[in-house]
Amino acid sequence: MSTTGQVIKCKAAVAWVPGKPLSIEDVEVAPPKAHEVRIKVVAAGVSHTDWEYLNQTGSGTKLRRFPLVLGREAAGIVESVGPEVTDFSPGDNVIPLFLPQCGDCVQCRGPKRNQCRKNWANAQVGVLADGTSRISFEGQQVYQYLGVSSFCQYTVVTDICLAKLRSDAPLDKVCLLGWDVATGYGAAANVCKVEKDSLCAVFGLGAVGLAAVMGCRAAKAKMIIAVDSNADKFAKARMLGATDCVVYTEPIGQVLVNMTDGGVDYALECDGSPDVMSAALESTTDGWGTCVIVGETETEAMSVTVEKLLMGRTLKGTYFGDWHSMEEVPRLVDDYMNKLKLDEFVDRNLPLDQINTAFESMKSEDSIHTVIHLWEETPGCCTK
Ligand SMILES: NC(=O)c1ccc[n+]([C@@H]2O[C@H](COP(=O)([O-])OP(=O)(O)OC[C@H]3O[C@@H](n4cnc5c(N)ncnc54)[C@H](O)[C@@H]3O)[C@@H](O)[C@H]2O)c1
Repeated sequence: MSTTGQVIKCKAAVAWVPGKPLSIEDVEVAPPKAHEVRIKVVAAGVSHTDWEYLNQTGSGTKLRRFPLVLGREAAGIVESVGPEVTDFSPGDNVIPLFLPQCGDCVQCRGPKRNQCRKNWANAQVGVLADGTSRISFEGQQVYQYLGVSSFCQYTVVTDICLAKLRSDAPLDKVCLLGWDVATGYGAAANVCKVEKDSLCAVFGLGAVGLAAVMGCRAAKAKMIIAVDSNADKFAKARMLGATDCVVYTEPIGQVLVNMTDGGVDYALECDGSPDVMSAALESTTDGWGTCVIVGETETEAMSVTVEKLLMGRTLKGTYFGDWHSMEEVPRLVDDYMNKLKLDEFVDRNLPLDQINTAFESMKSEDSIHTVIHLWEETPGCCTK
């Protein structure tokens, strides 16, 4: 029976309050409004950022509103489209995106950045363009995490936050290209533009940092130093291209300067702690060293010695590895179907009702990334 135009009842993992486990609830998902698309979510990655969002209350424009459905890394199938949607049809395989690409603004028209801000303020506080969420529980609005909310069997996103994929891509793998892996890989490829034979360092070896290692390797860097406080992460880093692995100890910046006889060309910070950010800058060479901040922190500031910048370093940051979201994610999916590694990042596959296990394992010694399968069976979609 067609569900088009109907409210859909389905399961979602709802965060009722900050810092507490999620509850599996029967929620209602309203039909898409103008320029919106309703998606059947097939697979969703559980990201460090979900965990951080759940465990911080935020403030100002970053204030968290509860109840909330988390999840912004996913892949699914279009169930129905709202009025004025021209680029998507029911049955399309898609990846929802937290970063819009409206195509009209200064950021979208320029080739250099990917900082489209259409509907941004609303997405930050958990609602779509009209100021409301499409998810509800017994009549109560449930907020949508950055306009996505992929820990729900169906969700509604705007049509400028969606990438259309080839039909043969395994959704439980390519969902990682909606957030963490695309970000780290893009930080090396697009933001640093790592060159052949360069010296690189990656700080933090979660999914983001490992993807940055992979990006440095793809660019044929001569030396890729992988740094983490947890040596259990080194085996995977070596597998993805790290040439050297170093346990984080103070003063790590100076340790890397000594190892490289002057400092690295590119340092990619993929942890999110201000101390590690400062150390990453410290590890770069005088004259041309570039440090890219990928890790996120809301409350603290990294310390920067101005003299380091005067000596010719560049300090920059990135959201989503500078990819133009709607346009370039489908190309990353093509790359995966050819050669890009993704399967290596997934070490757990769990059903939706075990999502709290994914959060618990996130801080364990060896876990990289969990993919949540939102349906028991979706023939042809999952490689589980
Ligand atoms: N900028 C963006 O667009 C973007 C996108 C995705 C994630 N992020 C952020 O990137 C960061 C990493 O995300 P993730 O999912 O890979 O997280 P993660 O928690 O899986 O990985 C972080 C890694 O850092 C390591 N670490 C901890 N302390 C360290 C230290 N002192 N020195 C070196 N390594 C240390 C941990 O052992 C872990 O391996 C987070 O802050 C996340 O919010 C940013």
